[in-house]
Amino acid sequence: MAKTATIDIDGQKYEFPLLTGTENEVAIDIKSLRGVTNGVITLDSGYKNTGSCTSSITFLDGEKGILRYRGYSIEELAEKASFLEVAYLLIFGELPTQEQSVKFHNDIKAQSVVDDDVRKIVDAFPKSAHPMGIISSLTSALTAFNPSSVNVKSEEDMYKAIVKILGKFPVLVAWTLRKKQGLPLDYGDKNLGYVENVLKMMFKQPNEDYVQNQVVVDALDKLLILHADHEQNCSTSTVRITGSSHAGLFASLSAGISALWGPLHGGANQAVLEMLEAIKADGGDTKKYMAKAKDKEDPFRLMGFGHRVYKNFDPRARIIKKAADEVLGDLGIDDPILDIAKGLEKEALEDSYFVDRKLYPNVDFYSGIIYRAMGIPTDMFTVMFALGRLPGWIAQWREMRLNVEPIGRPRQLYIGETERAFVPVDQR
Ligand code: CMC
Repeated sequence: MAKTATIDIDGQKYEFPLLTGTENEVAIDIKSLRGVTNGVITLDSGYKNTGSCTSSITFLDGEKGILRYRGYSIEELAEKASFLEVAYLLIFGELPTQEQSVKFHNDIKAQSVVDDDVRKIVDAFPKSAHPMGIISSLTSALTAFNPSSVNVKSEEDMYKAIVKILGKFPVLVAWTLRKKQGLPLDYGDKNLGYVENVLKMMFKQPNEDYVQNQVVVDALDKLLILHADHEQNCSTSTVRITGSSHAGLFASLSAGISALWGPLHGGANQAVLEMLEAIKADGGDTKKYMAKAKDKEDPFRLMGFGHRVYKNFDPRARIIKKAADEVLGDLGIDDPILDIAKGLEKEALEDSYFVDRKLYPNVDFYSGIIYRAMGIPTDMFTVMFALGRLPGWIAQWREMRLNVEPIGRPRQLYIGETERAFVPVDQR
């Protein structure tokens, strides 16, 4: 017999179906709630208990610290797969065959030229502009340069739009950095792998050849994989809800980038490094900052700590912490910031404030240290997160459109004034 949940409202009982996911997660399907109860809704600000969709892309168990893309563990993917394979897996559901892999990469490379007029937009930004503001605007501008809307009923049309954005986005990332650094805007090299090409486009100096460093290539590949998807987080939900109005793929992605920017989400990687720098400049007194984080009168939070879903550990943080040690070791960098980070982590893990609230280092606690070792400026960190999250956003947008989901439109509990008569200005 199908399982149900009963809600009792003032003695009147209503039954709702219980749905079970493939990992035995249970949800109460309240689709009919408002209709059968004559207007009652659920209220859940921040959506801490609300599922917005069903999805087959990413599974995460916050209690057990599990993260899987399409059933594959993040640990295994980070160790064995390439970013482009993971992108294919997330978007199309299966790991690509050798042939599919080559075709996918070739199709992306074929789309890796951006209309030259986009340079004029890049030129118009002040050098002081934050890179996230530039990249979200440029992504939105791609809509204007590619006005035909994607026919979501055509797999071919959908595929074309996907390879187009995967080809052009790294160019926009590189141009965002180069604009800030006063370097000429250039294109990549079709002979290179996806990640090698990103690095060359970002860092090539006009007067010398760019020499790839395999340690940096592998570390960036891993970082992009770790960031590639994270189910219904703030930016992904933004992409899905924007796309649910049938706004195009590029417009939906641009909205997602804006959502990612905030320091409670993707912007945390920049905030972490700025915090570690501030602690260093302040004499390395980690205890002082721990006290600030615990003080309810002080708005300061320990950036890179805590997560809405992970309440034991963030599996990505474990992989990144190890990678940070390796990358800094391989590159021969002795960064005092890493010691401050490790000290802060140790203290927090032994402090009852953090232990009781289940606050552990998240993915962004150590990622900035690796980005810095690669020579990426602090204000570009969140752009790198966006580059990694791109396939996840695309996969979620595609799934949402293929599932023919209704427009996202939450309800509210109104707590404002009841009806009142207008008062003319001379009587107020
Ligand atoms: N430092 C100090 N206290 C904290 C922190 C922190 N980083 N995070 C949460 N708390 C406290 C919070 O004050 C609250 O305490 P109390 O119960 O006494 O009021 C309790 O822990 C629960 O916090 P919450 O804000 O209700 O939890 P949330 O699930 O709404 O927020 C979070 C999750 C990630 C926004 C939050 O932990 C935070 O602001 N962390 C710092 C920013 C950060 O690192 N963000 C990156 C997240 S991972 C990358 C990504 O995917 O975006």
